[in-house]
Amino acid sequence: MVDAARRCEEANPDVLDINFGCPVKKVAGKGAGAGMLRDIPLLLKITRAVVDAVKIPVTVKTRLGWDHDSKIIVDLAERLQDCGIAALTIHGRTRSQMYTGEADWTLIGEVKNNPRMRIPIIGNGDVTTPQIAKERFDRYGVDAVMVGRASFGCPWIFKEMKYYLETGELLPPLSIREKMSVLRRQLRESVARLDERRGILHIRRHLAATPLFKGIPNFRDTRIAMLQVNTVDELTAILDKIECDILPEQI
Ligand SMILES: Cc1cc2nc3c(=O)[nH]c(=O)nc-3n(C[C@H](O)[C@H](O)[C@H](O)COP(=O)(O)O)c2cc1C
Repeated sequence: MVDAARRCEEANPDVLDINFGCPVKKVAGKGAGAGMLRDIPLLLKITRAVVDAVKIPVTVKTRLGWDHDSKIIVDLAERLQDCGIAALTIHGRTRSQMYTGEADWTLIGEVKNNPRMRIPIIGNGDVTTPQIAKERFDRYGVDAVMVGRASFGCPWIFKEMKYYLETGELLPPLSIREKMSVLRRQLRESVARLDERRGILHIRRHLAATPLFKGIPNFRDTRIAMLQVNTVDELTAILDKIECDILPEQI
């Protein structure tokens, strides 16, 4: 981890976030990700070593604990802070829960309200609407909320949440065309950041999840074609077809 952290630092990121939260079997089962929650002394030793190895701020993301009987986050948060991390993100589930059930924010609130805690606490889990985001800030006092799945295929959700938090009003819904233009920008940026093949694979996951095309009659073939594209040109042609031929019929 120290070697990996030093290599990451060479890419000049703003922060280095250690993921002690991933629940998937091939990761957690090997003792990595959320699997580290079963060996707290090692988790702390690694965190301390990484903090000491790099100059940039090190943050941690983790879960409430390994399972229902070991929700150790309140104590763990203090000990992670003592390792020198700069902020802590808590997903309000245990590893055993994977992504099922509802995120429990009670312990996130307890960590935040622990007078010993000084570092920013970022709450995560089931923040899916602007109203829920606001409620989590108000009720649990967290310094930030992190949004995961609700952003898949809906990258405009951040703008909607920010607007609601700042004004108390809901942003007038973006039109389908505005949303399409956001997805096109996401396509361009993904390809620029990664490369064409990986950028397209990334965007295909968002297109698969987006609610944007729900309810459009006879959309199935277009949807399948959209999710099988391999190049920017192919995908752009399909998005053009949706905007020029399919959407006008819907309006
Ligand atoms: C497909 C998928 C991939 C994820 N990958 C990561 C990851 O690489 N790093 C990470 O810290 N969390 C990852 N997460 C977890 C999310 O960041 C988040 O903690 C979790 O989805 C709960 O938040 P949500 O209810 O807003 O989705 C992933 C989640 C999903 C569903």
